[in-house]
Amino acid sequence: MAARILDGKAIAKSVRDGIRVKIEAMRADGMRAPGLAVVMVGSDPASAIYVRNKRAACQEAGMHSVAHDLPEDTHEMELLRLIEALNGDTEIDGILVQLPVPKHISAEKVIRTIAVAKDVDGFQPENLGLLAQRRPRLRPCTPYGVMKMLAHAGIEVRGMDAIIVGQSNIVGRPMMLELLMQAATTTICHSATRDLAAHVRRADILVAAIGKAELIRGDWIKDGAVVIDVGMNRLPSGKLVGDVEFATASQRASWITPVPGGVGPMTIAMLMQNTLESAQRRLGVVTSAASGAA
Ligand code: GUN
Repeated sequence: MAARILDGKAIAKSVRDGIRVKIEAMRADGMRAPGLAVVMVGSDPASAIYVRNKRAACQEAGMHSVAHDLPEDTHEMELLRLIEALNGDTEIDGILVQLPVPKHISAEKVIRTIAVAKDVDGFQPENLGLLAQRRPRLRPCTPYGVMKMLAHAGIEVRGMDAIIVGQSNIVGRPMMLELLMQAATTTICHSATRDLAAHVRRADILVAAIGKAELIRGDWIKDGAVVIDVGMNRLPSGKLVGDVEFATASQRASWITPVPGGVGPMTIAMLMQNTLESAQRRLGVVTSAASGAA
């Protein structure tokens, strides 16, 4: 079976277009635009690209975008004070500090300092806890984007064996909670997993989020499986590849995400969605879309 492509780029564009229309309607009603502050510390080249894309998407959607680029040697206290100022800024609905932060700064302290209501990354323990209890509010953007893609393609995960490879707080763990909320049977595999291939072979849906180029062999994929590749790895040749061997996996899967152009654009679209939802909540806009249903 040759897989159908889950075109994240196209789905993300339709999500962003919908957000732009909602923002235009808010503006027409005399409200301010949703505001997102994106903070970057240091100059990691990969982070700089992500941050640039996030800021561009914000502006394209008609949001108020605030950029804070701080030097690598910024004191932790200075960053925490900036976050506190943004917490109190009435024009700002979402605060994102791009991770990783330099080693002398505690990412945990940074995340904990962001107001829960402005945590558009969905990394705060309260937002993750709400997701764990099936009462999602601000949801981590990458797993939220994966669910949006699946819904867009009409893929019903109820009862599926879902295998997630990678146990990060940003992707693997919230991905498990999202799939569980939709009644998939979930397993997370990680570096201590004994027989990764055996788990992957039984996956009806596979989410690979480990950051190791083509670690998942195409011939491990079950016929008809849905393959979601969150990986983004640059080979020495400069080529970008995912965590799954695309050429062989796409001969067996029913659906597969490309790299690039799959999950990546969805992460940014859902950041916009979270910022919109946060603004709607703050401004008292009543809308069914504010429930954040995938
Ligand atoms: N670094 C890699 N992915 C992310 C993300 O989704 N949010 C933030 N803040 N940093 C990241």
